[in-house]
Amino acid sequence: MKFFVDTAELDAIAELNDLGMIDGVTTNPSLIKKSGRDILEVTKEICDMVDGPVSAEVVALKAEDMIAEGRKLAEIAENIAVKVPLTWDGLKACKVLTEEGKMVNVTLCFSANQALLAAKAGATFISPFIGRLDDLNIDGLDLIADIREIYDNYGFETNILAASIRTANHMSDCAKIGADVATAPPAVIKAMANHVLTDKGLDQFVADAKAANIKIV
Ligand code: E4P
Repeated sequence: MKFFVDTAELDAIAELNDLGMIDGVTTNPSLIKKSGRDILEVTKEICDMVDGPVSAEVVALKAEDMIAEGRKLAEIAENIAVKVPLTWDGLKACKVLTEEGKMVNVTLCFSANQALLAAKAGATFISPFIGRLDDLNIDGLDLIADIREIYDNYGFETNILAASIRTANHMSDCAKIGADVATAPPAVIKAMANHVLTDKGLDQFVADAKAANIKIV
């Protein structure tokens, strides 16, 4: 499973990218707002840093306006994936932009039917939002599993990009189900390294090394 990091914070992206932990980046208007940066400038800086797909989201609601915005975003760099919402207009924009050879990430997906439509429209990525479903007591992981089954039934090539990930367990659960990509905030990716038994074991080793006066360099 590929990892994308869900942020527009350059320092966080650089740290994960330098470690080889991420295969791409996702942003959205809320993350751009949080960064306090101009969307075109910060997206260019992210694209210069990361080789893989960088999702940048349109803000228009009508298909023709989304297409114009998508074309402008795609001019930033070759690794831009234009992000459009899963609305009827968004699907129209997806179809046009995909036919122009651009990567398209269809976002705000909350049902298997929506994911089917995105695949029919030629989306490169479909972004089902796990955490926002979990917030409503609907198991977001069930949606990932349903989309995996449907896409496999018919050989759709659209990549399942599990989004709105809130916990480290979501990452391994998505990997078990077979999501192609999972995008998560930097803190969630780093939290995947944590285990209480690792901490406990290390405390003991540190104490024993001190007691035995073990020195290596
Ligand atoms: C990804 O593409 C989405 O922008 C993101 O995962 C949304 O996450 P949230 O529900 O935590 O805002």
